[in-house]
Amino acid sequence: MPDFQPVRGMRDLLGEEAQTFTYITDKARETASLYGFKEVITPHVEHLDLLSAKTGDEIRQRMFVFKDLGERQVALRPEFTASIARLATTTLKKDPKPLRLFSVGTVYRYDEPQRGRYREFWQSNFELIGSSKPEADAEIILLSNNQMKLLGLKDYAFKIGHIGIIRSILSQEGIDEKTQNAVLQLMDKKEYDAALQLIASEKCRKMLTGLIEIRSNDWQDVAKQLQDYTAGYEKAKDAVEKLSEVLELVAENTNAPIKLEAGFARGLEYYTGIIFEIYIPQLEIALGGGGRYDRLIEIFGGEPTPAVGCAHGIDRVAIALQTQKANLFSKADKNVAVIPIAENLKFEALKIAQTLRNAGIPVEFEVMGRKMGKALEDADKRKVDFAIIVGERELKEGAVVLKDLTSREQSTVPLGKLVEKFKN
Ligand code: HAM
Repeated sequence: MPDFQPVRGMRDLLGEEAQTFTYITDKARETASLYGFKEVITPHVEHLDLLSAKTGDEIRQRMFVFKDLGERQVALRPEFTASIARLATTTLKKDPKPLRLFSVGTVYRYDEPQRGRYREFWQSNFELIGSSKPEADAEIILLSNNQMKLLGLKDYAFKIGHIGIIRSILSQEGIDEKTQNAVLQLMDKKEYDAALQLIASEKCRKMLTGLIEIRSNDWQDVAKQLQDYTAGYEKAKDAVEKLSEVLELVAENTNAPIKLEAGFARGLEYYTGIIFEIYIPQLEIALGGGGRYDRLIEIFGGEPTPAVGCAHGIDRVAIALQTQKANLFSKADKNVAVIPIAENLKFEALKIAQTLRNAGIPVEFEVMGRKMGKALEDADKRKVDFAIIVGERELKEGAVVLKDLTSREQSTVPLGKLVEKFKN
């Protein structure tokens, strides 16, 4: 027999887990609507060229790549940003800016599977395209804050950095873009020694070493230190100023701690400005991340267009909610099983079920033709709240038996009063 398990790193989501995912995606849609983002649905499969253009080696090497039957080199999307940038350079090219686009769905990376790291996982993704202003960066961080708050997560914090500061310094020191990319990939993995070894200039190595050490929960202090540290590096200094402006806007509107780290880098290669990630104390992995990418749309053949965005990892948010024991499902609706006592009563029973459903009451109709005892046993197992037992004698009097499966009490209820009974 073949081994019909899900493919390694991929999962089935059942029961409460599936419900949790729906809960999280509902909250993401709520956040999108609160911040004026419109949902777009793009394909899971894209041209490999598009997906690998600026994602960086880390993700490029982990893509599910294949040739389709028409000999096209394609891949499963490892994230949404490339697809959205494609939209911005094609279909939405002429649309008034800013574009505010929201997506949710599965993405694919050949990561080493472990808790919180899967090969198929879910993201909710937000892209704000067309503004280079600090308020656009602030909006993306604040909507992430909103999302965490709506979900009911506690003690989350932001880790923030700025790729523009690092790149400006490296550029001014004559380090080419390819080496910069390699340095940043290593810094993302916190392999600082290996990153420094790629830099030949002693002066530049010292500069970067110092930069990596600048970090604190007091972001104002870090911003101040960075202003002094970047003296003589004009572009880096401008970047520090812009970063401070974003953080002022953000700090006014959230109580979440902001940890500013000058040496913080992210695996994706397209970032040009502020970058951030969201953490809770109980988990070491990021619940979400994002940043500014001002050159991607131009690289894809569009007009130079600044952009900023983020994605939240739904699988990890689900773990975070579980870890913090968030109470997600306050069961508002009572559910009901409708059970005809005999075969010939199923027409009447189904009519009763439909009347209840039309009034918005969830009903499980007995479709297995079981005897009442068996059907009740099953309803108990699945934690159904009430059973409506449709019997000949009661029906003749225009009534049914209503059994409370928790208290085990039962009473005869006239059909005309049934809906009312559940509505109260
Ligand atoms: P990312 O940091 O690669 O950013 O992914 C965002 C989030 O997806 C992570 O913070 C994490 O929660 C989740 N995630 C990543 N890898 C896995 C995995 N193997 N298993 C489970 N969850 C995972 C991006 O994808 C960027 N496109 C975000 C962005 C949008 N930047 C600008 N616009």
